[in-house]
Amino acid sequence: MGLKIAIGGKGGVGKTTVCAVWAQLFANDGFDVLAVDADPNTNLYCAFGIGNDKTPEPLINMKQLIAERTGTDGNAVGAYFVLNPKVSDLPDKYCLKTHGVKLLVLGGIKHGGAGCACPEGAFLKALLTYTILQRNELVLVDLAAGPEFLGRASIQGIDALLVVVEPGTRSIETTISIAKMGKELGVKQIVAIANKITDSAQLEIIKSKLGDIPIIAAIDYDPAVQQADLSRENVFESNPKLVETLKQAKQKLTDIIMSPTASDTENKS
Ligand SMILES: Nc1ncnc2c1ncn2[C@@H]1O[C@H](COP(=O)(O)OP(=O)(O)O)[C@@H](O)[C@H]1O
Ligand SMILES: [Mg+2]
Repeated sequence: MGLKIAIGGKGGVGKTTVCAVWAQLFANDGFDVLAVDADPNTNLYCAFGIGNDKTPEPLINMKQLIAERTGTDGNAVGAYFVLNPKVSDLPDKYCLKTHGVKLLVLGGIKHGGAGCACPEGAFLKALLTYTILQRNELVLVDLAAGPEFLGRASIQGIDALLVVVEPGTRSIETTISIAKMGKELGVKQIVAIANKITDSAQLEIIKSKLGDIPIIAAIDYDPAVQQADLSRENVFESNPKLVETLKQAKQKLTDIIMSPTASDTENKS
């Protein structure tokens, strides 16, 4: 079976960094990875070391294609994905292949206010709900910052929600809100990664505040990670230590997702 995983958290905590590394790790394991940049401040491609000139066409520009294929005004994005449910149905110009990963950009428009009915939210929801994954296909979504995403229901169809948290009250509170929201939406697995840790006491505080949200990795603050971003290097290639930690975290999450008892335990308690 394929997997759909979304990555959330407060702005600046490391969502994009984790997404880029996991995408390449899963690709190296033989997965067909679709990495979706769903942050309106799109920048996932930067973490792959890609220049601004090579970004793929945003998915929200597919309106005309949707209109043609569904015989509607182009807003029937759900209907489009029902008719074209395979990852391979997505036209090439919307998928940038890099480091063994297919990179998709949802849209660069920033919506203020409620934004729940914004086109990006509808797109993400349709993509995650109707896309039928083959074995070894993975959709990894780099969500917009904060607990609102692009319309909460847009992540309803995912297998797991990863929240990245840094040592900071607002980040911890955002993590708790996101986890609560994920639970309300029926997301089966909700886990956290603690990032930018500078001493073990910080990790203890995060653990105690997050309660029953499993922390699948703790990543130290490392100036080299920031430097890779500054010089627009591929984060995977420039930070072997980070990659190793995230490799173990990825294994933990896949074990949790595959474990038949994981959801039973929850039902019993
Ligand atoms: N463990 C870390 N140590 C030091 N800097 C980090 C670490 N993880 C991420 N960063 C840096 O923090 C900044 C924000 O990370 P990013 O992944 O873009 O966050 P988000 O996508 O959550 O906004 C980037 O400059 C990134 O290089
Ligand atoms: Mg980001």
